[in-house]
Amino acid sequence: MKPYTVLNMAMSLDGKITTRDGAGAQFTSKADKVRLREIRSQADAILVGAGTISADDPTFTSREAYRALRLQRGMAPNPIKAVVSGSGSISETARMFQPNGAPALVFTTQRIPASRLERLREVAEVYRVGETTVDFQRVLEILRETCQVMHLLIEGGGQVNSDLFHAGLIDEVYLTLSPKIIGGRDVPTIVEGDGFDFLDIVELALLDHRVVDDEIFLHYRVRKS
Ligand SMILES: NC(=O)c1ccc[n+]([C@@H]2O[C@H](COP(=O)([O-])OP(=O)(O)OC[C@H]3O[C@@H](n4cnc5c(N)ncnc54)[C@H](OP(=O)(O)O)[C@@H]3O)[C@@H](O)[C@H]2O)c1
Repeated sequence: MKPYTVLNMAMSLDGKITTRDGAGAQFTSKADKVRLREIRSQADAILVGAGTISADDPTFTSREAYRALRLQRGMAPNPIKAVVSGSGSISETARMFQPNGAPALVFTTQRIPASRLERLREVAEVYRVGETTVDFQRVLEILRETCQVMHLLIEGGGQVNSDLFHAGLIDEVYLTLSPKIIGGRDVPTIVEGDGFDFLDIVELALLDHRVVDDEIFLHYRVRKS
């Protein structure tokens, strides 16, 4: 069993998810930030990769109005916070580990050094799910069966998204197309990793689209092969 799994990302017209100077998704509009908060308000848990934590240092704490909305819907005021780090090299001072009433989870591997494991266990629940790489199937099973997560939101980055698409674990995609050109061969895109061969391409069906000023908000369902 796994949670229903939704990916939300913003990208420039040329497919970039951050800028050359590593400013993350700051290039999007106010409307995109509002949509992000709305999508987050429906999630029982949010999962990201270690690269996103070190680049953006998000808190994942809901604003007051959304906490009230979540409570009305019978949800916890803040979503569970989860990060994937095979090496366990994530800093225990990251803002996601600051107490906000919601559990913080780290999914790592047997590669994690004992000293890091001990430090992270002081601020989070740590699961070792894999020898050298994290087994995402197992991660989603733990979220569903141990943490009762029904609705999971993935917020990148490109490496985590790649692994989840390869494992066939994404059900829906929310995508903001921002009218900017960022460029740079080393600036990440929505899906990094090794990519797909022609016969394995992931196909999606458009569920909804909305244009606000020059930005386009897209919503897709992943077609299962
Ligand atoms: N525009 C947007 O909507 C948006 C959203 C989110 C992030 N971003 C941007 O995306 C960038 C980060 O993306 P990224 O691709 O560099 O990093 P990422 O996907 O956030 O994290 C990559 C890290 O996650 C861990 N990881 C991922 N898959 C793993 C697996 N199967 N097994 C073990 N560990 C695994 C590894 O951590 P260890 O190295 O610790 O083992 C890996 O280095 C940042 O610049 C951020 O600003 C943009």
